[in-house]
Amino acid sequence: MPARYTVFGNPIAHSKSPQIHQRFAAQEHASIEYTRSLVPNSFDDFQAAVKQFFRNGGQGANVTLPFKQYAYELADQCTTRADDAGAVNTLMRQPDGTLLGDNTDGIGLMRDLNENLRIDLAGKRVLILGAGGAARGILTPLLDAKPAEVVIANRTFAKAQALARTFVFEVNAQPLSALSGGDFDVIFNATSGSVSGDVPDIPPQAFSGCLLAYDLFYAAQPTAFMQFAARHGAAQTADGLGMLVGQAAAAYQLWRGYTPDIAPVIAALRAKLTA
Ligand code: ATR
Repeated sequence: MPARYTVFGNPIAHSKSPQIHQRFAAQEHASIEYTRSLVPNSFDDFQAAVKQFFRNGGQGANVTLPFKQYAYELADQCTTRADDAGAVNTLMRQPDGTLLGDNTDGIGLMRDLNENLRIDLAGKRVLILGAGGAARGILTPLLDAKPAEVVIANRTFAKAQALARTFVFEVNAQPLSALSGGDFDVIFNATSGSVSGDVPDIPPQAFSGCLLAYDLFYAAQPTAFMQFAARHGAAQTADGLGMLVGQAAAAYQLWRGYTPDIAPVIAALRAKLTA
């Protein structure tokens, strides 16, 4: 019987995780089962579904919105990066039957930057827009890449300050309106605004001299944020499709000890998305 994996979420019908993981399995010349699991939005329902999946022989699961915090509470042990993020996107059954929780979102982003976009964050001045779960999830791996400076800016400034304070000395906070031109090499959009086509209200000159403007969200067309950034001077823009494939690759590696190549999978997904 092939090893069994799933992704828990709500909604989940449009999740690309099954096709991504099947492409990884093809690279490994392995046969896996990877399903979508739609779960009602409550901790009890989520817990029951996860327990049942692993009791029935499941080996690993991905967790997407809105369950990443629930998965963090549910896991018996967590990796440091999951603790830092306060969220779990990957669960693995351990030999003694307990569940390990990991968070591969941040390293997924790093893999996309390093292997696909070929941008090294070492010594770069980095700006993160947004101070919610998505921003928190990428901070630890981002700091590991040794940027010269990391600033968080958010519509609600107090939330940027609170998040920056959890990384004393390493991260600063600024109000969106205080951002000025030429200060940042790489700008990440970790706000949830892209879902509805909103661009964070930042001064356009913030993008002058910017090497890369990266939207953690992705869509068939360049997002409103990417278009705004390109129009105002960003040399390169990217969306979060590569991060999606990167986080899946890190989960696959955790479960199976095999490291998939992400670039051909990103290219295949992009081709389907824009077809
Ligand atoms: P996620 O888990 O996706 O990060 P979240 O925790 O709800 O979701 O956080 C959403 C982030 O996007 C917040 O930083 C939010 O700003 P506020 O803290 O001021 O609410 C930000 N955000 C959402 N829509 C936005 C918009 N239209 N412009 C600017 N920031 C926006």
